[in-house]
This record gives sequence, structure tokens and C-alpha cells, in this order.
Amino acid sequence: MQILLATTNEGKVRELRKLLEDFRVEIISLKDVSIKFDVKEDRSTFLENALKKAKEYALYYSIPVVADDSGLVVDALGSMPGVYSARFYEIEFGGKVEDQAKTTDQKNIQKVLKLMEGEKNRSAKFVSCVVFYSPEGWGLFAEGECMGEITEYPQGNKGFGYDPIFKPEGYDRTMAQLDIDEKNRISHRGRAFSKLSEKLSKIIT
Ligand code: IMP
Repeated sequence: MQILLATTNEGKVRELRKLLEDFRVEIISLKDVSIKFDVKEDRSTFLENALKKAKEYALYYSIPVVADDSGLVVDALGSMPGVYSARFYEIEFGGKVEDQAKTTDQKNIQKVLKLMEGEKNRSAKFVSCVVFYSPEGWGLFAEGECMGEITEYPQGNKGFGYDPIFKPEGYDRTMAQLDIDEKNRISHRGRAFSKLSEKLSKIIT
């Protein structure tokens, strides 16, 4: 059996492959399909975006799909970047931040740090909604969260996205300083996946 991971984000593919390694399934990602088809993530919640991606790709490619929509939710920023996490730097919220950062991840991090300058309340969480959708027209979903705080400056070079500025609760290191297995054990996606795996294992053997 093949499952398509509805993402081109290498960091996510790495994590999701690891999370699915106990299933006897072949994992492919959007990078492996030859005919490109794009689904816009234009909904206002993680669940709606994940469901939209999983359903549209499953019906288009006629293959079971696992989609994750995830992001960083910062209390002091009124729950932003939220569903805008992937392209926060170009969103009008808080004004554009001019900096020398090259990658999208670096630009997003710079914007969060700039908006958080002098802010005492650094509470934040990562949220992930994962959806499995079968081309036969049914699906399963699960949600996971990882509580933590925004650091004053980036540390670590593992992981992806906002990992260098997110310190999980109970840790004195950032997510970007954790090995992939350790991150998957405590992360929003890891937690959402273990719930989804439990449901899936009753169906896929
Ligand atoms: P998505 O592909 O629309 O789900 O975008 C999610 C965005 O949220 C990513 O591009 C990252 O910026 C951020 N994000 C999601 N999960 C993580 C994570 O595990 N670590 C760091 N950033 C994450």
C-alpha cells in the first residue's frame, strides 16, 4: 500500500516518514508525483486546511493521503502566526519586518522575535492537525499540541521552521537542539500522529 504525504516540506517529510515507519506502507510525498496539483491552504483553522489538503489530493491522485496542517500559536501575538505560520513574514500583521534573513524560516523567525521584543509573556504552543483521507471517501483526524515558550534568540540547527526559537515546556533546550526521535516524542505532530496511528492501526495491517 502507498500513502501520499501532502507536503513538500523536507522537515515534515522526514518527521512523518519516521512516525509512519511501523506501518508496512510505502511513503511518497508531493515531490515524488510527476503531475503537479496544488491545493491552496486558505481556510481559517488547522483542521479545515488539513482536511481540504488530504481530501483534494486523495481524490485527485486516487491514493490514500496523510496531510498535516500545523503552526505556532503565540499568546502575546493574539494567537498569531497560527494558520499563517508558513508565510508569516509577508503577512501585514505587525507590519513588514525588513531584515537580512535569506530563507523563509529565518524571515518568519525574525518577525516573531521583533514583535516579541520586550514582551514578558512568552507562552506559545505548536499545534498540528493530521488527517488521513481515503480516495473511497472517508477519513480520520487527530490533533496534537506542544506547549512551550518563545526564546529571546535562535538556538540549534536541527528541525525546521520556528524550532530554533521554541523551548518546549520542561526543557532547557529549543526544539532545534533535540534529535528527531526526541522531538517526535513530544511534538504536536508526534502527539497528533500517535492518536491517528492508533485509529489507523485498526484499519491498516
Ligand atoms: P503548513 O505546511 O501550512 O502546515 O505550515 C506549517 C508552518 O508552521 C511551517 O512552515 C513552519 O513554519 C511552522 N511549523 C509547523 N510545524 C513546525 C515544527 O515542528 N517546528 C517548527 N515550525 C513548525
